[in-house]
Amino acid sequence: MNLAIIGTGYVGLTTGVCLSDVGHTVFCVDNDIKKINMLKKGKIPIYEPDLEEILKRNVRKKRLFFTSSIKEVVKKTEVIFICVGTPPREDGSADLSYIEDVATAIANNMDSYKLIVDKSTVPVETGKRVETTIKRNLKKDVPFDVASNPEFLREGTAVHDTMHPDRLVIGVSSKKAENILKQVYKPLKSTILVTDIKSAELIKHASNSFLATKISFINAVANICELCGADVEKVAEGMGLDKRIGRAFLNAGIGFGGFCFPKDLEAFLWISKQLGYNFDLLKSVKTINENQKKTFVKKIEDALWNLKGKTVAILGLAFKPNTDDMRFAPSITIISELQQAGAKIKAYDPKAQERAKEILKNVTYCRTPYETVKGADCLAILTEWEDVKNMDLSKVKKLLKHPIIIDGRNVFDPEKIKSLGFVYKSIGR
Ligand code: UDX
Repeated sequence: MNLAIIGTGYVGLTTGVCLSDVGHTVFCVDNDIKKINMLKKGKIPIYEPDLEEILKRNVRKKRLFFTSSIKEVVKKTEVIFICVGTPPREDGSADLSYIEDVATAIANNMDSYKLIVDKSTVPVETGKRVETTIKRNLKKDVPFDVASNPEFLREGTAVHDTMHPDRLVIGVSSKKAENILKQVYKPLKSTILVTDIKSAELIKHASNSFLATKISFINAVANICELCGADVEKVAEGMGLDKRIGRAFLNAGIGFGGFCFPKDLEAFLWISKQLGYNFDLLKSVKTINENQKKTFVKKIEDALWNLKGKTVAILGLAFKPNTDDMRFAPSITIISELQQAGAKIKAYDPKAQERAKEILKNVTYCRTPYETVKGADCLAILTEWEDVKNMDLSKVKKLLKHPIIIDGRNVFDPEKIKSLGFVYKSIGR
């Protein structure tokens, strides 16, 4: 099938690359010409395992094309996926102006039936808006369908998640749209749930908010564990063995970050309020997440007493491992608070360092974990990268000024690390 993907961010690029790899001919569009030129040369602007290799393969096979012209691809394709950004506005609502711009551009260039599929994360009722926008801007009377097909891929495992999804959600209002989308996804052999458009839109916000709730729940439990001397890892294991709960997303830490959970939580709160429902549960999820970062800074302060003039070695800056994404990373708040209290920061991240330099100033960026800990008053772990997990701890101990580790991701076994002579504080144990 000939498919168009509009927007080449994490979602658009991964979807385009993977759908070409299963045999479709895919035209990816972006209005960032520099990015399009880079993609045409087989280079991707983000760090995402396997993506570049698969992209190159499909460009070579002439199944994957990049262009900045929406006009050109609307003419060539029947199914058009909208994958542009929906960034947060000041009030927490999603900025849907890019979606409107794309819908208008599609309408301006339509001369035969099109299925316009929204893949961007949007509040419920956006599908209706897209439909109205297209109707208003059509140059001639051509039939079309609008569908919602939310994306659930995670950064760092984007290719795997796209090729082997737990489920595909298709929100449609016609049998024709349902059949076309089923055909697009047939090669993935995944469970397909067909719903109305509004329910599909809600599934995305509800899923992300539920996962964020799981994380805040276990972080709250971790705080109780610290107060009473229990072990949150054991509590999570015990809870997770109940099939109705499951162990996933019960890892206590410094809170969730990234461009999805914080933004989608805000947007879900906003749309709930608009619709007349006060979603207090989600407000608490957000508050617990904010407090988790503050509690971590306090842990460092407790260990070092006065932060003024002390050097804190930070390992891991990205919001999670296997990504170079720094958006809404907990490290941003934690490092800023430490700096405000007068601490000096040395930091290392295997992939996110360059992006971090644009956001976090007055930081001494280092090339290895060992260079980072050298001469520091303590080590704080913010992302559970493999290089951090596999460090030679006896070397770390020799290099640190004081053998203190504050672990925000529960990377090490407390008993083992204490037996090596470290003062060790982690989360909820
Ligand atoms: C998330 C959703 O998982 C995905 O389905 C959606 O499409 C986009 O948003 P992503 O933001 O890439 O994906 O990362 P994810 O792996 O979900 O982690 C999000 C944050 O939660 C990270 O900061 C991570 O460190 C944190 N987290 C995750 C925890 O603190 N504990 C956990 O148990 C799991």
